Amino acid sequence: MEFSDIESDLTEILFTEDEIHAKLAELARRIEADYAGTKPLLVGVLRGAVMVMADLARELTIPIEMDWMAVSSYGSGTQSSGVVRILKDLDTDLHGRHVIIVEDIIDSGLTLSWLRGNLATRGAESVEIVALLRKPDAAKVEVDVKYEGFQIPNAFVIGYGLDYAEQYRNLRGIGVLAPHVYS
Ligand code: IMP
Repeated sequence: MEFSDIESDLTEILFTEDEIHAKLAELARRIEADYAGTKPLLVGVLRGAVMVMADLARELTIPIEMDWMAVSSYGSGTQSSGVVRILKDLDTDLHGRHVIIVEDIIDSGLTLSWLRGNLATRGAESVEIVALLRKPDAAKVEVDVKYEGFQIPNAFVIGYGLDYAEQYRNLRGIGVLAPHVYS
């Protein structure tokens, strides 16, 4: 799906597909250098990180493995509470593994902060985070993100895996959702 297919649902185009791919290539070069000689486990957080995972993993020139988790955050409405429930757990034993959590976006940071702590207790050698987007103004807890793509304003964004009510995940780029869609 292109921006032109949902033009009236957007107030702003933030990143085109090409810009996203260029940023993922940059992050991939850093990851390759940092993990040379190892085989990191990329842990994708369903469902938003599917596109980031697919493109980042193919960009990497070092061997990797992939696994997936699905988590849901208890909270009221759209507010994340930081209390997280695992809906789908990993199939991989983390003992001695170098783990890289792959996320689409960090908003309050509560989910990721919990997830990193959870994975760290499973015997992983290291746990780092790659996130394509981060909203610094929305942070409720500071999360140390080693590989960060773009910082964005505190607005609701869609596309490239990110949804509103399960829609727009298949938009190639990323844009700001127009208020008339959700109000
Ligand atoms: P956090 O615990 O508040 O950091 O929650 C992060 C999760 O909220 C992300 O993995 C997304 O699923 C969702 N999310 C946060 N901001 C947005 C947004 O602007 N668009 C779509 N989903 C978002």
